[in-house]
Amino acid sequence: MRGQPLTRQPKADVLVTPERSRTASIEQHIDREIKSLMVSLPNPERLSSDERRGIVARYTAVLEGNFIYWMTAAYLAVASDAAHAIIRENLLEEVRDNHPGMLRKFSVAADAMPTDADARAVARNLESVRRFVAQLSGTKIVIMMAFFEGFITRFMPYLADLAGRRGSAEREYTDVHGEVDVVHTRELFRALEAEMTLADGPEAATALLEGVDVLRTLIQRIVHHTNG
Ligand SMILES: [Fe+2]
Repeated sequence: MRGQPLTRQPKADVLVTPERSRTASIEQHIDREIKSLMVSLPNPERLSSDERRGIVARYTAVLEGNFIYWMTAAYLAVASDAAHAIIRENLLEEVRDNHPGMLRKFSVAADAMPTDADARAVARNLESVRRFVAQLSGTKIVIMMAFFEGFITRFMPYLADLAGRRGSAEREYTDVHGEVDVVHTRELFRALEAEMTLADGPEAATALLEGVDVLRTLIQRIVHHTNG
């Protein structure tokens, strides 16, 4: 969701540029994707304790070691100064505040540390995202990360609920990410606009959304896989 600008904007920025309207339509698409993921979440009440563990564990298996790496790929792939500055801030916060450590603490407290089986459950879909990221397409990775941040923000109350039902009161990770990622998402859309302004020509919308598709499939795997 686009909120009010936090800082003063130059006058020209208020104009509806082609980039601005294309960014807005991508933002709407991402918003719909996130909403449809959210309504597909199984009711935590009806899940077994082991199913609740599985979701927390697979989420941890994917996020702990990959989020900063994918955000770093975005940093390496973008061309504009504005996008570099925005992504650098995001990375600084991740590293300085030890977000992977926070997530590890969260999954340990819920007795939901990823096992070999959890890693195997997400391996194929995780590899698809890695292959996509390896193409180093700045615009596409920024779109994927905006989707990721937006999803994470809205997923936090659900994740906290699962952990709570497993007897954990640890909330630092979910509290921090329910808050900061709202700002991160907004900033990434600003980075996207800067990248699209620099891009040579308009790319087909379906190509731009490639990263959203592969990441959505991975998230679906996190949420819906049943360890047999
Ligand atoms: Fe984070």
